[in-house]
Amino acid sequence: MLAVYAKSADPSEPLNALELGERPEPEVPDGWTTVSVRAASLNHHDLWSLRGVGLPEERLPMILGCDAAGIDTDGNEVVVHAVISSDDWRGDETLDPGRSLLSERFQGTFAERVAVPRRNLVPKPEGMSFAQAACMPTAWLTAYRMLFVTGDLAPGQTVLVQGSTGGIASAAIMLGSAAGLRVWVTGRSEDKRERALGLGAAAAFESGARLPERVDAVIESVGEATWAHSLRAVKPGGKVIVTGATSGPNPPAELPRVFFLQLRIIGSTMGSRDELLQLMRFCGERGIEPEIDRVLPLADAREGFAAMAAGEIVGKIVFELG
Ligand SMILES: NC(=O)c1ccc[n+]([C@@H]2O[C@H](COP(=O)([O-])OP(=O)(O)OC[C@H]3O[C@@H](n4cnc5c(N)ncnc54)[C@H](OP(=O)(O)O)[C@@H]3O)[C@@H](O)[C@H]2O)c1
Repeated sequence: MLAVYAKSADPSEPLNALELGERPEPEVPDGWTTVSVRAASLNHHDLWSLRGVGLPEERLPMILGCDAAGIDTDGNEVVVHAVISSDDWRGDETLDPGRSLLSERFQGTFAERVAVPRRNLVPKPEGMSFAQAACMPTAWLTAYRMLFVTGDLAPGQTVLVQGSTGGIASAAIMLGSAAGLRVWVTGRSEDKRERALGLGAAAAFESGARLPERVDAVIESVGEATWAHSLRAVKPGGKVIVTGATSGPNPPAELPRVFFLQLRIIGSTMGSRDELLQLMRFCGERGIEPEIDRVLPLADAREGFAAMAAGEIVGKIVFELG
C-alpha cells in the first residue's frame, strides 16, 4: 500500500529522511482492527520523527502520522484516537507510562490502511468532513486539554497563546474564543497576526511584545524562543500550560519569578479518548470548523512537510486518500 514514512533520521534536514512508496499491509494483533484512511493531518510530531526525536533507528522504517479519519472494517465512519495505551491500562490514556502515539512504536496513519486498537476508534460526527475530523486527534485535542482540563480556564479569563497560526495555536484560538475566553496571541509576522484575529483572537502582538496587562494563563508550545516572555506575561498565581518546545527544549529556568509570583507551570500532553469525544461534541454544538491550510493528496505530502518546516502554514495540513 502507498505510505509516507521515515526511512532514516536527519536532525538538521528532516525532509531528507522522508520517503513516499509502497509499504506492507498492517499487521493486526488481537483486539486491534484496520481503518481505511480517508484523511490524515500533519503535525509537528511528524517533523520530530524525521529528525529522529522519539523514533530510534531500530524502529525504522516507520510510517508517519498520528491522526486519521476513515472507515472501519464494519463500514463505520471513525476517528482514530492517537494515544496507544498498554493493553491492561484503564482510565486516562495520557497517564499510562507505557503509552505511545501512532508512528512511534506502531505504524502511523499516512497510509491507505492503519491498524489500531478497537478501543481507539470513536464515531466520526456526521456534520464533520473526514478532513476536519482528521485535525482533531493531536493538535486540536492537545489544545482542548490545555484550555479546559489541565488549564481549567473559565469564561472571561484572558489567555495568551504563544504562536498564532500553527496547529495548536489555531485550535487554541478557535476553541478558547468559542468558550468565552479572551484570547491574545503572539505572531511572528503581520500577516500571521492578522490571520489570528480572523480566527477569533481578541488581540495579536509581536513575539516578545509587552502586553497591556498580565494574563491569567499562557498556552506554551514554542519553548526557548517564548518561555521568558510567557513567565513575564502571566499574573501572580497564574498558569503556564506547556506542551511543546518547537524552538528548543532548554529555556531559562527563571526560578525566582516562578516562586516569587507563585506561578503554576503545568505540563499537558494530548488528551484522553473521552476528551476527544467532548472536543468533537463542543465543535459540533458551537459550529467550529478547524482552520485547514491546504488539503493535499498523500502523494504530494512532501509539499506539506516543507511548508510546516518553513513555518508557512495557517491551521492544519491534511492529506486525503481514496
Ligand atoms: N505534548 C503533546 O502532546 C503535544 C501535542 C501536540 C504538539 N506538541 C508539540 O507542540 C509544538 C507545536 O505543534 P504544532 O503541531 O502546533 O506545530 P506547528 O503547526 O508547526 O506550529 C508551530 C507554532 O510554533 C510557533 N513558533 C515556532 N517557532 C517559533 C519561534 N521561534 N518563535 C515564536 N513562535 C514560534 C509558530 O508561530 P507562528 O504562528 O507565529 O508562526 C506556530 O504557531 C510542537 O513542538 C509539537 O511537537 C506536543
